[in-house]
Amino acid sequence: METLLTARDVRKTYHRGGGIFSQETDGARFTAVDGVSFSVLRGETFAIVGESGCGKTTLARMLLRLIEPDAGEIDFEGRDLLALRGGELRSLRAACKWSFRILSLRSIPACASAKL
Ligand SMILES: Nc1ncnc2c1ncn2[C@@H]1O[C@H](COP(=O)(O)OP(=O)(O)O)[C@@H](O)[C@H]1O
Ligand SMILES: [Mg+2]
Repeated sequence: METLLTARDVRKTYHRGGGIFSQETDGARFTAVDGVSFSVLRGETFAIVGESGCGKTTLARMLLRLIEPDAGEIDFEGRDLLALRGGELRSLRAACKWSFRILSLRSIPACASAKL
């Protein structure tokens, strides 16, 4: 079957601490998505599962280019998704039929985002 979506070693870090006026923000960063790789075949059902805060929404937003990864590669329908600009990007988002079903499984005691 044809590969629809491939992510390779996708990473995202955020500033630790609160908002821009927070005294906790000391420039330190923490890793929200730590080197996630996967492939999804056309027609396949794919779920991102893990406890709250393990990086599911961050990953989903990167797949839609709503936020930019710090590192990694994402291909969609054989195209480099991270290279899309302007109108191409808008039509990708408009055409997206992906359904992200984000499950919060409280029974999972720990979730390493790298294992997603
Ligand atoms: N814009 C942001 N700035 C700083 N930290 C963030 C931001 N968005 C999410 N986080 C943090 O990144 C981690 C992953 O969050 P998120 O992707 O929302 O996880 P999930 O969807 O699995 O609950 C959490 O620790 C969260 O507090
Ligand atoms: Mg979420």
